[in-house]
Amino acid sequence: MCKTIASNITFNGKTLSHSPDSPSILHSLERQGETPAYQCREGFCGACRATLKQGAVQYSHEPLAFVRDGEILLCCSIPDGDVVIASDD
Ligand code: FES
Repeated sequence: MCKTIASNITFNGKTLSHSPDSPSILHSLERQGETPAYQCREGFCGACRATLKQGAVQYSHEPLAFVRDGEILLCCSIPDGDVVIASDD
């Protein structure tokens, strides 16, 4: 079980927040008006893949989609402290 903490998410150069009640980075971004790509929202498809430029994340469950080193899935991860992320679209 991962622990959700309040933190900053810098997404494509814009600094946003992640609150402990948010289930994922994708959810936090959408709540603040961002529109990152997604499809399944469950870690299967890889459509929400993004580059983690700084920081670390935890996964709510082990994703099935392939993720390379330095990439994360926005739909099933939460920040482990402040993170810097760039979308791949
Ligand atoms: S939206 Fe499908 S893996 Fe994230």
